[in-house]
Amino acid sequence: MAVFPIHTLPDPVLKQKAKRVRTIDRSIKKLIRDMIETLHSEPGRVGLAAPQIGVPLRVIVIGLPEEEDIAIINPEIVRRRGERLLDEGCLSVPGYFGQIKRAETVTIKGRDQNGKEIRIKADGLLAQALEHEIDHLNGVLYLDHLESMDQLRKIEPEETQL
Ligand code: NI
Repeated sequence: MAVFPIHTLPDPVLKQKAKRVRTIDRSIKKLIRDMIETLHSEPGRVGLAAPQIGVPLRVIVIGLPEEEDIAIINPEIVRRRGERLLDEGCLSVPGYFGQIKRAETVTIKGRDQNGKEIRIKADGLLAQALEHEIDHLNGVLYLDHLESMDQLRKIEPEETQL
């Protein structure tokens, strides 16, 4: 296992569309282990997408406080419901956060690391994290949801980062 540095803006890997995983082989399982270790290497991190460690593949991990880690391969949002305004930050945009609109609940599907199909209906922080990390796979950052860069604000480093 290994902890990888987080790629930050203006690294072009953050703006590209990640590729679907075709075969869940040992390299993908290792990628997931490394992503989980990288996620837990600093407090306050709750989600990570593979492009953030420089790997342009459709893999995300979520580690909410007091909950089991979730790894999802080829995740897709199948339903969004409702709308809410949330503060959001990103490990790849260090030092800032902004307020954006996210769904109240999302339903996603994908595969776990054994290739089994999974479906998750989420609200709260999990819904936000799933939308945020799936955005990363499409080269989208929360900044892209801001109406203006004037809405960006400085944060303290210990706040939640997605
Ligand atoms: Ni992020």
